[in-house]
Amino acid sequence: MKICVIPGDGIGKEIVAQALRVLDKVTEKFGTRFEIEEALMGGAAIDATGSPLPEQTVALALAADAVLLGAVGGPKWDTLDPAIRPERGLLGIRKALGLFANLRPASLFQELKHACYLRPDIVAKGIDLLVVRELTGGAYFGTPKGVEVRDGERVGFNNMIYAEHEIRRIAKVGFEAAMKRSKRLCSVDKANVLDVSRLWREVVLEVARDYPDVELSHMYVDNAAMQLVRDPSQFDVIVTENLFGDILSDEASVITGSIGMLPSASLGEKNPGLFEPIHGSAPDIAGQDKANPLATILSVAMLLRYSSTEKTGDMGPQADAIEQAVRKTLQQGYRTGDIREDGCKLVGCQAMGDAVLANL
Ligand code: NAD
Ligand code: IPM
Ligand code: MN
Repeated sequence: MKICVIPGDGIGKEIVAQALRVLDKVTEKFGTRFEIEEALMGGAAIDATGSPLPEQTVALALAADAVLLGAVGGPKWDTLDPAIRPERGLLGIRKALGLFANLRPASLFQELKHACYLRPDIVAKGIDLLVVRELTGGAYFGTPKGVEVRDGERVGFNNMIYAEHEIRRIAKVGFEAAMKRSKRLCSVDKANVLDVSRLWREVVLEVARDYPDVELSHMYVDNAAMQLVRDPSQFDVIVTENLFGDILSDEASVITGSIGMLPSASLGEKNPGLFEPIHGSAPDIAGQDKANPLATILSVAMLLRYSSTEKTGDMGPQADAIEQAVRKTLQQGYRTGDIREDGCKLVGCQAMGDAVLANL
């Protein structure tokens, strides 16, 4: 299997290094062979080539079976022209590969229930939800956009815009995911205010006719943000637009213990998928061996599960083995700083990788 690996910036390099060790171990244990092609994106690519997404990176990604990403961005590049910021690289590769569906599962490892910020009686009800975030539309990509002078003052604007085919295809992903889980789908929008959300709701209702077994509900995004901390057990699959999904998935991550735990899969209709932790490059802890590599390691599990082809065979068992190794590592009490608890074995990024490897 050919994997295009993009370490990126900040803690990206540290966490991806641990993920690559996990892939080596999978080869040793299962015989699955990986051809790794490293590529540049984000700040690292700007420094080396002047562009956050060199053409060669897109070519390498398109030629691979899957893409594994660490994270991009950092203060060094924050003052650049927005057109060449590191984040543009990430948005560009999502668009170039047509990765419109971002799956962000947030489930609480029982071993981490004490790292959770919610009340024990709420945690006891369990947290196991999936955010299906639309990834190539909405305010992230809408035009017109910019900052310009109008009537003597600066005005900034972005356009949250969705065509119905974009809503229909992500709604389908949400319904299909719900069919494989407990058949409940909550569509999150702001249809009481935004026209774009009114269309979103109409199209979701149209798609719902093909899924009579799925119990569909609608929720305004402000209420959803509140309900996620009040009682996350009420959610199974949440489907929502790009910006709402970005915000709600960070919130969903921390109710399961830490943003350092959450993996994601970005999928399209045909091109290779991109797999990455939902967190960023964490400049505040970069280069200190403090980052939690588990979200990236769990992203490798998602990569194997979602990128299985005839050529590779079903890599579900490899994915299961990685997830089991992570669970066992948590059971043994290993914790990075973001999930630290009294009496735990506090470790750094590399030592957390060692523990997962030993369990694998
Ligand atoms: P962030 O997710 O990088 O960090 C938020 C907080 O969470 C920080 O305190 C950080 O230390 C902590 N954290 C994040 N990941 C962690 C991990 N694995 N282990 C332990 N702690 C972790 O968000 P931010 O600070 O808002 O953004 C920093 C940079 O990352 C910005 O340039 C932003 O644009 C970029 N970013 C990139 C991605 C991506 O590449 N997918 C995602 C989000 C943010
Ligand atoms: C994420 C990030 C990105 C986003 C940024 C860095 C472009 O926050 O992957 O969640 O907003 O999608
Ligand atoms: Mn985000």
